Amino acid sequence: MPRIFITRPIPYEGIKMLKKRKGLKIDLYEKDEKIPRAELLKRVKGIDILLSILTDKIDAKVMDAAGPHLKMIANYAVGFDNIDLAAAKKRGIVVTNAPGNEISETVAEHAVALIFGLAHRIVEADEFLRAGKYKAWGPQLLLGTDVGLKTLGIIGTGNIGTALIHRMHDGFGLKIIYHDLKRNREIEKQYKATYRTKEQLLKEADFISLHVPLIPATHHLISTKELKMMKKTAFLINTSRGPVIDEKALVVALKKGTIAGAGLDVYEHEPKLTAGLKGLKNTILTPHTASATIEARQALSRTAAANILAFLDGKQPPNRINK
Ligand code: GLV
Repeated sequence: MPRIFITRPIPYEGIKMLKKRKGLKIDLYEKDEKIPRAELLKRVKGIDILLSILTDKIDAKVMDAAGPHLKMIANYAVGFDNIDLAAAKKRGIVVTNAPGNEISETVAEHAVALIFGLAHRIVEADEFLRAGKYKAWGPQLLLGTDVGLKTLGIIGTGNIGTALIHRMHDGFGLKIIYHDLKRNREIEKQYKATYRTKEQLLKEADFISLHVPLIPATHHLISTKELKMMKKTAFLINTSRGPVIDEKALVVALKKGTIAGAGLDVYEHEPKLTAGLKGLKNTILTPHTASATIEARQALSRTAAANILAFLDGKQPPNRINK
């Protein structure tokens, strides 16, 4: 009987799908907390399938602790930088992530919220008012900037980047420029998006949103040099993975006014923040909650389960990463 271990309680829809499957033994780390490493190493012993979440470091040690039965790791996330893919490949372990329309739309909505929140200084204004500082209307009080008709630069035009482009182009009339490994003819056609080198995009965009996976090539994709290329009036948005930005360099740039502001959902040393970041008014900081809606998290749960069920049926799981 195949054994699955789930490292943390996740929304029920995927669990329900797995429970319906006869002859499957499901073990779950019951506490709603990141499973301690020692507990993870203990609980995986002898399992066939691991359903992990993005804060679990799934490396060779975990795979070996599980033993030779481990044949699949289904990550409850779109990202998969928490999994050592080379170690999995060496052991013949199938790895899947959990992308999909729902989660793409949800993360894109969060990026929209960060863009508007920064441009209209929503968080600052809220804090100002609650602190009792609002004494009278003023023509120059908390002046922000418009979003519509500006230029949005997207780095990474996968599902999430494209969902953001759709909203910002069709909804608010922004001009879209993008950078990616390859030209994306579809967004060029549908949203009149134009391709730029990374350098051109940095120089030209008013809002820059990052939608790349964390891989060696994207580590510190944005550092001092790149921040200096950006307009002084530009905003940087990151809902991908923290280490894509050199956070120390970003704090310096935000302090100096090299760029206007940043909306971040992910951090280089998550959950820790680089010194100085918290105190900056020209930022909006959310705790990796870009996909935290009930709809998106249920979809993640269903997708992770669907990958597992396909694997159990001897089929190629739809979201296999390491083919
Ligand atoms: C969230 O960050 C995810 O990768 O799903």
